[in-house]
Amino acid sequence: MTPPLAIDGAAPLFPLGEGSPWPSWPPPATEEQRALQEEVLRSGRWGATSGELCHTFAQRFAERHGCVSGVTTVNGTVGLSAALAAWGVGPGDEVVVPAYTFVASATAVAMLGATPVIADVDPHDGHLSAQTLQEALSEKTRAVMVVHIAGSPCDMDQILPITRERGLPVLEDAAQAHGASYRGRPAGSLGDAASFSFQSSKAMTAGEGGILTTPDAELGELLWSVCNVGRSRRGAWYGHERIGWNLRMTEFQAAILLPWLDRLDEQITRRNAFVDAFSDGLARRGVPARVAPCPEGTTRDTRHLAMIDLNPDSDPTAADGTTKDWVLQALAAEGVPTDAGYPGLHRIPAIAEVSRCLPAPGTDRFCASTLWLRQNLLMADPEVADQTAEAFSRVLSDPRSRSNHE
Ligand SMILES: Cc1ncc(COP(=O)(O)O)c(C=O)c1O
Repeated sequence: MTPPLAIDGAAPLFPLGEGSPWPSWPPPATEEQRALQEEVLRSGRWGATSGELCHTFAQRFAERHGCVSGVTTVNGTVGLSAALAAWGVGPGDEVVVPAYTFVASATAVAMLGATPVIADVDPHDGHLSAQTLQEALSEKTRAVMVVHIAGSPCDMDQILPITRERGLPVLEDAAQAHGASYRGRPAGSLGDAASFSFQSSKAMTAGEGGILTTPDAELGELLWSVCNVGRSRRGAWYGHERIGWNLRMTEFQAAILLPWLDRLDEQITRRNAFVDAFSDGLARRGVPARVAPCPEGTTRDTRHLAMIDLNPDSDPTAADGTTKDWVLQALAAEGVPTDAGYPGLHRIPAIAEVSRCLPAPGTDRFCASTLWLRQNLLMADPEVADQTAEAFSRVLSDPRSRSNHE
């Protein structure tokens, strides 16, 4: 017999509000972060044109991600636009963007006056595939964006042979993938350039901010120039060699981010431990849901989010598919705050209006079937993971979790 559910008035599995097991995000600032903040404040060198921290951080972050060059930016969105602008992308050009991602992946293209081409994703892992990429290419394609969604690296072995054959640059949207790796190589070094985000929800955050990385030293100089009003790093202060933006991050942000690099691995390990224990808990209880699989070749998923597929073996829109809205509400009542996740980009009217949208049945299936556990939940103790699986078990064994319930 399933115990009564909190949505019907029973006591929740986890306390709501005070006493809940979920840590907040970001974690409290460390002594080192406070000391560096104070040092920046005292020095009066608050910007990257006078201080050294942004530069030091960019170098260390780039090295940690297998790259020779790093350029800090205002945020991840403009980082994507800057890389595309460096390649000359503009009006009349198309850039392939997978349909399952945050809106900014496409916005970054549209802001340049270029056309995002919204490609379908694999129905089970949510990534661009060789097939969906092929369907999206045209004579106008100037670049391909891959997204390491939720910290799960895109299956680059499916993408790179196609882009190389056509001489197309690959931009990694690594906004969610600090510390991820694919076949042992770090995200950020898998394509020609990558943009990471340090916005509040991210695995490393300074409230806002971003960084571009590239394994190509020459491109690194060009990216620096585009983000620094067209200057050249070694040129005269007022010698502007091209049109560029001021996309510089502040030294205060670098003071928070630099010490974070030493904590990143430990935090990724903790989130993975939670997801493993949660997955075991689901399997042990025979729950018909599972964490969405990582593409082949993944050596490190950072679990920025855990994407849970509620109908891994069936069609979520079929009569016995899951009623995702009810499941979200029932889990919230048990004290497990989950998230419905993204709509496909092709379903966002403002994006569809400026894009060329391909049919996206895989994305529609993925969106209908998955919900998220956010990173702060995954930072909880592993024992909590098993209880979280118990909450899923209770909720998903209720007939109301299926569309065809009476
Ligand atoms: C996949 C993805 N791309 C791009 C961005 C944009 O980053 P930002 O908010 O720093 O502009 C985000 C996050 O916000 C994201 O999750």
